[in-house]
Amino acid sequence: MSDKFPTGVLWGAATAAYQIEGAARTDGRGPSIWDVFCDTPGKTVGGENGEVACDHYHRWREDIDLMRRLNLQCYRFSISWPRVMPTGRGAINQRGLDFYDRLVDGLCAAGIAPMITLYHWDLPAALQMEEGGWEHDDSPHWFADYAELIFNRYSDRVARWITLNEPWCSVDGGYFHGAHAPGVRDRALGYRVGHNLMRAHAQAVSRYRASKHSRGMISFALNTAWFFPETNSPADIAAAERALLNFGGWFADPAHFGDYPAVMRERLGDMLPRFSDEDTRLLRRSMDYISLNYYTSDVVRYKHGAGLMDAEICTPPEVQRTEMGWPVYPDGYYNLMMWLHTRYGLPLMVTENGAAMPDKPDRTGYVDDQDRIAYLQSHFDAARRATRDGVDLREYYVWTLMDNLEWSVGYEKRFGLVHCDRRTLKRTIKASGHWYADFIAGACEKTRRLASPAGAMR
Ligand code: FCB
Repeated sequence: MSDKFPTGVLWGAATAAYQIEGAARTDGRGPSIWDVFCDTPGKTVGGENGEVACDHYHRWREDIDLMRRLNLQCYRFSISWPRVMPTGRGAINQRGLDFYDRLVDGLCAAGIAPMITLYHWDLPAALQMEEGGWEHDDSPHWFADYAELIFNRYSDRVARWITLNEPWCSVDGGYFHGAHAPGVRDRALGYRVGHNLMRAHAQAVSRYRASKHSRGMISFALNTAWFFPETNSPADIAAAERALLNFGGWFADPAHFGDYPAVMRERLGDMLPRFSDEDTRLLRRSMDYISLNYYTSDVVRYKHGAGLMDAEICTPPEVQRTEMGWPVYPDGYYNLMMWLHTRYGLPLMVTENGAAMPDKPDRTGYVDDQDRIAYLQSHFDAARRATRDGVDLREYYVWTLMDNLEWSVGYEKRFGLVHCDRRTLKRTIKASGHWYADFIAGACEKTRRLASPAGAMR
């Protein structure tokens, strides 16, 4: 049995605009809901915000250099909607667009294929304050107009696209428990926001496919855990299946089949909005590939009355956990990849996978993060097994290039392959970064020569 990945898999890293760019008030960028949220006392740990972050907006050349040293073949980043359209609609900010032009050109010149996420949670604040943001049923049109601007500008050089990052998190964090912007707590509104997000995804995909440069692949980034049943009892097995459909299926089913999973319709009743025929038509087959962001899994058991799915999380306390407290389950990752493959039958791009660890830099800033290497290694092994068992893995993006703003938990939770000193912003490649560079060089010798920046889509 081969210990290599199939030839042609590309290896990269992922970031998001608000987490790394900084320059929050530079060159005409408008505020986003995350600027407003971070400015509200008590919302983020230590009152941290993305004003400066990693100052990637000014240091992007150095950062591309880092990517080269890591041997990255592809790089996923997000465009800040309020940087290019400061109020979300109408006026365009050329200086914002120019920044991403420089970045895309720099990546292509370095032989690194760019993947663009259109929306990684930083909604222009004006849309939220004036119109209620994603709660508004017209929000999909605003998003599609913004998406079209971006497609027209960059798809001559970019062939990999993600409409939305993790709509589940936008709803769960932003509208269920309120720990993410815009910090609302209202379940019914949350389901409506999720609904509009999926309508927005579908409309953006349809604009992409209608555009003249649409030779690439487009999807949205799905995050979900895998759920292990606690026992082999039919009740536990059924509870685990419901939990999965209520998490990953909530967004992936509409984007492939055109509607929510039946179990959600049954159990949520009128709280779950209905798609129009036109929505359903646009949604069906609106993923060219599964874009999976995977971190963790859980164990569940059947318990009457435990949430809407009668499923209770009962992950053993002694299981290994990352700094986020997330259980480490590479087998869950494997199971999930197989499940997605069977249910949707699409190629797979892992668009985030990584771990926060208790990094301790030495005096030079070097971090010997053997625990992160172990996490990545075990998850790569799971992915390799999945490719052997039929999963068509195309690309793999480790989260994340460098330590950055981990949303409401601030800068203390670090996922980077590269350490970024909070005071000096000096970048130092961690042991995991060196390990990854060697892995890419060794495992994928042949692939590297294939990677033409915009192309290399099979
Ligand atoms: C994902 C987000 C990403 C990062 C990682 C740790 O949910 O997409 O921005 O915060 O988690």
